[in-house]
Amino acid sequence: MPSSYTITLIPGDGIGPDISSAARRMIDATGVKIEWEVQEAGLKAIETHKDPLPPHVLESVQRNKVALKGPLTTPVGTGFRSVNVALRKEFDLYINLRPARSMKGVASRFDDIDLIVFRENTEEFYAGIEHYIDAKKSAAETIGVVTRAGSDRIVRAAFEYARKHHRKRITLVHKANIMKYTGGLFLDVGSQVAREFPEIEFNDRIIDNMTMQLVMNPHQFDVIVTTNLFGDILSDLCSGLVGGLGLAPGANIGTEAAIFEAVHGSAPDIAGKNIANPCALALAGAMMLEHLGQDAAAMRLRSAIETVVAEGKYVTRDLNPASPVGTDAMTDAILGAMEKHDIVVSRS
Ligand SMILES: NC(=O)c1ccc[n+]([C@@H]2O[C@H](COP(=O)([O-])OP(=O)(O)OC[C@H]3O[C@@H](n4cnc5c(N)ncnc54)[C@H](O)[C@@H]3O)[C@@H](O)[C@H]2O)c1
Repeated sequence: MPSSYTITLIPGDGIGPDISSAARRMIDATGVKIEWEVQEAGLKAIETHKDPLPPHVLESVQRNKVALKGPLTTPVGTGFRSVNVALRKEFDLYINLRPARSMKGVASRFDDIDLIVFRENTEEFYAGIEHYIDAKKSAAETIGVVTRAGSDRIVRAAFEYARKHHRKRITLVHKANIMKYTGGLFLDVGSQVAREFPEIEFNDRIIDNMTMQLVMNPHQFDVIVTTNLFGDILSDLCSGLVGGLGLAPGANIGTEAAIFEAVHGSAPDIAGKNIANPCALALAGAMMLEHLGQDAAAMRLRSAIETVVAEGKYVTRDLNPASPVGTDAMTDAILGAMEKHDIVVSRS
């Protein structure tokens, strides 16, 4: 294991600078030596380089193979294409891994939720194959291509994860009743891969039924694997089940590189106010530490966050609307919890 790492840090737009400097402080406090290569993408890069994703940012990720990324704004409708989608395509980050776990002290509908969503991250309706069908813009079409190879590798990644982490069940989510070719192919490939993992229970659900069942009885699910658009929506739904976007981390993983980020976006409504919850990005940082093989550091960071969230005293407005603290104060409390834990460990 290397003694230090160089990692690309993309602060991002909106709340990105606030939460990424908070996450960086927390990750540094774990003791893992990281040299951060800060790279601007998104709105700032448009101002300075007239390009939301300048080549030197791509080169940095290419060189370091690991990045922590704050959220990036993507204009709805017209404007530049999503930088997030471009990064996933550029580095073929085909796995979007989004865990949703209950945390003590967070008001939510259910307790003891522990769901993992594997979202296919490069194909289907996010591949950017879309246009108006005529000059009058009387209609538009988006083409979603689902490949056998792309389906195989994401379903396989979900099964391998389940095997490694002793998870019991995989649910494949699709719309094969209507989209008989794309949905049908995904289901067909998934069912074939499942036969190679007989110890893991496999079932499937149609997306509309799945959304209802997740809201009514989420405990029946364990690992969920699905295509790009359904995965995007379902993972937000799952973070809603455990108390919202402020605590939902995600990882974009390929064979050559990995980019860790929060599930949430740039939250322009609360940007620059020091009120954003820094934990989703910090928890993505914990996933990053695990990816680097630094499991103990990841656990330290995660348990310090859990301690502060469970106490509920030094948490942001999304977790305690009655008497919240700011992003900085919550970060300080998490650093304090890490230090206290170290003192207890060294005394015992
Ligand atoms: N991976 C990414 O970079 C990513 C993901 C999703 C959306 N986006 C982009 O972000 C922009 C805004 O999107 P949106 O408003 O639909 O979604 P959003 O996730 O930014 O915000 C949704 C709601 O959640 C709140 N919220 C989000 N993060 C929070 C945090 N850390 N702490 C407290 N509250 C938080 C916001 O205030 C808002 O009310 C859009 O341009 C979108 O394209 C980027």
